[in-house]
Amino acid sequence: MHTAACIFDLDGVIVDTAKYHFQAWKRLADQLGIIFTEEDNERLKGVSRMSSLEIILELGGINPGDEKKMEYATLKNDWYVELISKMTPAEILPGSVQFIKEIRKKGIRTAIGSASKNTPMILQRVGIQELFDAVADGNNITKAKPDPEVFLKAAEMLNVDPAECVVFEDAVAGIQAAVNAGMRCVGIGSKLVLAKADMVVSGLNEMNPEILSNLENTKYI
Ligand code: G6P
Ligand code: MG
Repeated sequence: MHTAACIFDLDGVIVDTAKYHFQAWKRLADQLGIIFTEEDNERLKGVSRMSSLEIILELGGINPGDEKKMEYATLKNDWYVELISKMTPAEILPGSVQFIKEIRKKGIRTAIGSASKNTPMILQRVGIQELFDAVADGNNITKAKPDPEVFLKAAEMLNVDPAECVVFEDAVAGIQAAVNAGMRCVGIGSKLVLAKADMVVSGLNEMNPEILSNLENTKYI
């Protein structure tokens, strides 16, 4: 199957924002007297803001009601925005810009497919908006991964058939979303964890257009 477009998750694929999510959630957890570790933070990758809050409240055995939940989520996001507003281009993960530029030169269209409502700010802070033909993010979708909505939205914005898209994802829910969208996917991280991906690499620095075309040749949908 020919590849017409590549769709990239943002957090954990192009930038490492997990550490900022952790700092902001940790600040909230500390304030609520909940023990929250970096290991717990792994469970939040690719998970929406409200679902992340639910996981943390569950860790603390707290159920504060909807109004308080909104207040906590807003507080966390304010702290998170404070952190990401200081991001610089130096925080782009190795190899990302080079790989995206290489595939664009070959005529492959590129998009972001991220659950984060803060996607526009992150892209602007690290200065890579011009690398993408479309941005599908938490602001224009309603259903979280593993629902395929965000990737289907990106394909629609690009006017490309989902079967001609390859997704790059670091979260299990994101890989499942790509599968549900009928797209091929490259996992970023561990083969054991991302078992449903068509191939797994440790980062975009391991990718090049040739490896991408091998993926095209081995998978038929
Ligand atoms: C990404 C991250 C998650 C985060 C979600 C929502 O999927 O991996 O950790 O919870 O985006 O991000 P937001 O910036 O909208 O709170
Ligand atoms: Mg991610």
